[in-house]
Amino acid sequence: MSEIKCIGIMTSGNDAPGMNCAIRAVTRSAIYNGWRVKAVRRGYKGLIDGEIVEFQTQNVSNILQFGGTILKSSPSKEFLTEEGRKIAYENVKREGIDALVVIGGVGTIHGARIFAQEYDIPCIAIPATIDNNLCGTDTTIGYDTALNTIMQCVDKIRDTATSHERLFFVEVMGDDAGFLALNGAIASGCEEAIIPSVQVQEDQLANFIKNGFRKTKSSSIVLVAASEETGGALQYAERAKQEYPELDVRVSILGHQQRGGHPTAHDRIIASRMGNASIEALRKGLRNVMIGIDNDEIVYVPFSRAVRATREIDHALLDILHNVSI
Ligand code: F6P
Repeated sequence: MSEIKCIGIMTSGNDAPGMNCAIRAVTRSAIYNGWRVKAVRRGYKGLIDGEIVEFQTQNVSNILQFGGTILKSSPSKEFLTEEGRKIAYENVKREGIDALVVIGGVGTIHGARIFAQEYDIPCIAIPATIDNNLCGTDTTIGYDTALNTIMQCVDKIRDTATSHERLFFVEVMGDDAGFLALNGAIASGCEEAIIPSVQVQEDQLANFIKNGFRKTKSSSIVLVAASEETGGALQYAERAKQEYPELDVRVSILGHQQRGGHPTAHDRIIASRMGNASIEALRKGLRNVMIGIDNDEIVYVPFSRAVRATREIDHALLDILHNVSI
């Protein structure tokens, strides 16, 4: 492998709090190592359009506390085509980029995987998505912040739920994985988390009502993972209103506020560790791996494993949710 003197860095896919912290860590670790850094704006689209500028350490000053991504992100249909990727590679060569560090979720890593298969360019991915749905890492950048946002929102919703003795269906993001719904429900003391992969096996709403949530409580909150499969919180609320007309039902859809805001200390720390590890990985000659954290240790996860399958939730956590919310 030829010696690395210059890396490209970009964010792609949906933004996640902590991405800026990762951009800072990658940039500074690379410069510390004597390498140059070329920042690509607007993800794979920017790689094709040649939106590439050189970064110095000052370019990443004062950004670690902000959500979103200073590099911006944009979908790219062109990168899905061979012609598009060819143009991207020509730009990479023209800019003197010897390796790419991409920050994002499942789609971003898919893109890097295809690019690295077609062209001789080492790629390292840093997992950043609020969904926490990548395999081989305990957590992804942004997930903890989103969980905390959900917890704070549900704490507020609880005031009304309790005062008016209502049943609330609160819709959260997280894709079909359901991690935000499950751990958000535990963190905020909800009575149930409706998760697509569980709902296909059992009627969670019917079981929840049947198990007598009103035995000791006069209000309750159910988190529903947004999903085409389940139809989301609105569909559950409609069903509950029809089947249990005695209940006072309300819906709250938390939406994109879950993706924003200042990253938590936890997300800043893992973003800094993973950003630094991406440069360490390149120094060790690794390529085409995602940086992961397993048992608090940095690990290198082959792209093929990171995106292999949908990451399963831990069913023991669902039991805990039910046990502690009686
Ligand atoms: O991947 C993060 C995520 O927030 C998912 O949980 C959600 O399904 C999706 O992005 C929403 O994306 P958009 O911003 O396109 O509505």
